[in-house]
Amino acid sequence: MPIVRFVKQDQTVECPVGTNLRELALKQGVDLYAFPANLINCRGRALCGTCRVKIDDERAASAPTAAEKAKIGWEGPQYRLACQTKVLADLEVITNPRVRYGWLNHPTYKWMEDLPH
Ligand code: FES
Repeated sequence: MPIVRFVKQDQTVECPVGTNLRELALKQGVDLYAFPANLINCRGRALCGTCRVKIDDERAASAPTAAEKAKIGWEGPQYRLACQTKVLADLEVITNPRVRYGWLNHPTYKWMEDLPH
């Protein structure tokens, strides 16, 4: 069974192949959403984008859904919507990763990607 590590929370959990990442995080009590999205979100329908996470290996997760690609596909394969992601193998997950749009995406601020999340 795959092992998922939530990096910020320093929590590790074992789960069956195909487990939904959002459901796993919520079941483990992991803070998946930043306030106020923890109160108001689309409950896993790929509409709000607030369950966005960064994973260490895109091959260890299911392929992005069409809705997910439309929402955050431009960010690259490591950025996923937890509600649309199924765990296939061992995975490291960073919840609420740094936002990569607007002026933060300018090459001037590339150094910020090396900062701890
Ligand atoms: S919970 Fe809204 S997009 Fe995942």
